[in-house]
Amino acid sequence: MKDSFSIVSEEVLFALKNNLGSFLTVKELKSSFNLPPAMIAKAIKELKSWGYLIEGEEYKRYKLTQIPDLLFPLEIKDGLKSKVFGKKIHSFRTMGSTNEFGFTLAENGAPEGTLIVAEQQTKGKGRLGHLWYSPPNLGIWMSLILRPSIPPAKASGLSLCAGLALALAINELTGLEVLIKWPNDCLIHGKKVGGILLELSAELDRVNFVIAGIGINVNQIEKDFPKNLAKKATSLKIEKKENINRLALLRLFLQKFERIYLDFKKFGLVNYHQEIKDHFFLLGKKIKLKLGKKIIKGKAEDIDENGALIIQTKKGEKKIFCGEVTVI
Ligand code: BTN
Repeated sequence: MKDSFSIVSEEVLFALKNNLGSFLTVKELKSSFNLPPAMIAKAIKELKSWGYLIEGEEYKRYKLTQIPDLLFPLEIKDGLKSKVFGKKIHSFRTMGSTNEFGFTLAENGAPEGTLIVAEQQTKGKGRLGHLWYSPPNLGIWMSLILRPSIPPAKASGLSLCAGLALALAINELTGLEVLIKWPNDCLIHGKKVGGILLELSAELDRVNFVIAGIGINVNQIEKDFPKNLAKKATSLKIEKKENINRLALLRLFLQKFERIYLDFKKFGLVNYHQEIKDHFFLLGKKIKLKLGKKIIKGKAEDIDENGALIIQTKKGEKKIFCGEVTVI
């Protein structure tokens, strides 16, 4: 089910937000929009049902006191400084997978930067066929449609761009140190706080579009994670010991990812290479890398300018572009 506000509610909300914390009389609201008081009262009811805290007396005056931390397009866009990312937003209370929905949208021509968010996913997709646990209202489960003019081989660098943007956004908002576990995980204290899943539609020599799926564990507490994840996963709330504003984080992430992405389209990873290396979780660690049926063991030494992982193995140095890494 798709959620959206009625136009009247949007207008009333807009007016209340402009007067956040102080009363607006029905007379004032009426004169701004020429709406009958009964419609204003209906809009207020609707807004309250969405979680907006509004005080006042019906047909007299209203005051907005709190905005819910829900991922409504209207709230995401309020104060969003990115130009392309999030210009078009599809927001759902619950859905299978934002990546799947995004893929269909992209196949039907949705523009670059289209954002799909869901409060809950019932079939959230992780890498390598895993399920991504996406409980309601506690995380950010989102996908972005990207249309870079690059060959498919270069697309994996986007995972590092998204990872870096997420690490920087989390750090700016919370002060927490996030490291990137090549190629697609964001970790705090060695536990997974975010994951990135890129899905591609491509010809041999060029990408048609990329769906960048990003999952961020934000306000879960320990018991919100299923037993099999409890040891490996964490959330910002667990690490920071306080509730984190998802809207603020989402906006910050979109801004940072857009900046890095636009640069990546022109110059590849060169300009962010050092920052990516500064967040390199695997540096110096002994690892096991699964590449289909092949297993490679060695020491993670570097990430090169194309985003490849450099491993020192018994047989010499190896450059790896994808795979599943375990620290041993
Ligand atoms: C991983 O680490 O395995 C990648 C996880 C990616 C999860 C996100 S949540 C939003 C988007 N929609 C999906 O179905 N998956 C991605």
